[in-house]
Amino acid sequence: METLRIDERTRLLVLTGAGVSAESGIATFRGSDGLWENHPIEQVASPEGFREDPALVWHFYSQRRAGAKDCQPNAGHLAISEWERRLGDRFLLATQNVDGLHRQAGNRRVVELHGNLFTTRCARCDRRPFEDRTEYPEGTVPRCDECGGRLRPHIVWFGEMLEPEDLFRVEQFMSEEGRLVFLAVGTSGAVWPAAGFVDEARELGGETWLVNADPAENGGSFHRFVRGKSGDVLPILLEFT
Ligand code: OAD
Repeated sequence: METLRIDERTRLLVLTGAGVSAESGIATFRGSDGLWENHPIEQVASPEGFREDPALVWHFYSQRRAGAKDCQPNAGHLAISEWERRLGDRFLLATQNVDGLHRQAGNRRVVELHGNLFTTRCARCDRRPFEDRTEYPEGTVPRCDECGGRLRPHIVWFGEMLEPEDLFRVEQFMSEEGRLVFLAVGTSGAVWPAAGFVDEARELGGETWLVNADPAENGGSFHRFVRGKSGDVLPILLEFT
């Protein structure tokens, strides 16, 4: 297998998607049926879906919490946390995953682009998002202690904007001095803006790599493609020189 050489000038930007958590037992999104755990994606991952049936949406995320809470980081997550340990501020991880497994594996330089499954915020007032591991009983919609409004999962749904500061952090990292390497892992390359990071990295002269079990939708944009499971490939991918 081809290895990715990291020297002392290299800055490594890693983008992960659902494939990285698959070996920890968390289902990926794009199955062949277009459903997410038997629900049309818009029903459980859009502001319209939440307006229409907030109890259903909370039941869905409560089930996701129950499913994810005992999952453990796998060899792919652990390899990525080791890279951060070695590279320090020459490393940044942007993840589309909401399961928190990268932090559990030890990563601290993480941008959670799509939010976090174990964080809740108020849909009405400006209180800060807070940690919440509650699995709400079916049929309930939790209310804000401060304003009485509906609480909602702190997840970026379809049709919503990512946090501008998260994107800024990624873009700033890309444009710093040195040799930029961009590595995407376990993502179908179908959801923007993350799917466009590879093009931005290339425009800035970066070397771009994809590790994925299957070809990605934006696969043609990468310089290198290593086909395989992240838990097998990542522990042996990097060569520090
Ligand atoms: P997808 O489910 O679209 O894609 C997962 C990719 O991982 C697929 O291309 C698989 O081939 C690959 N894969 C599966 N198992 C793998 C493994 N063990 N090792 C390596 N690759 C593997 O997931 P994402 O691209 O992450 O957004 O989806 C992006 C976003 O769409 C998600 O963050 C979510 C979803 O709607 C929100 O919830 C906002």
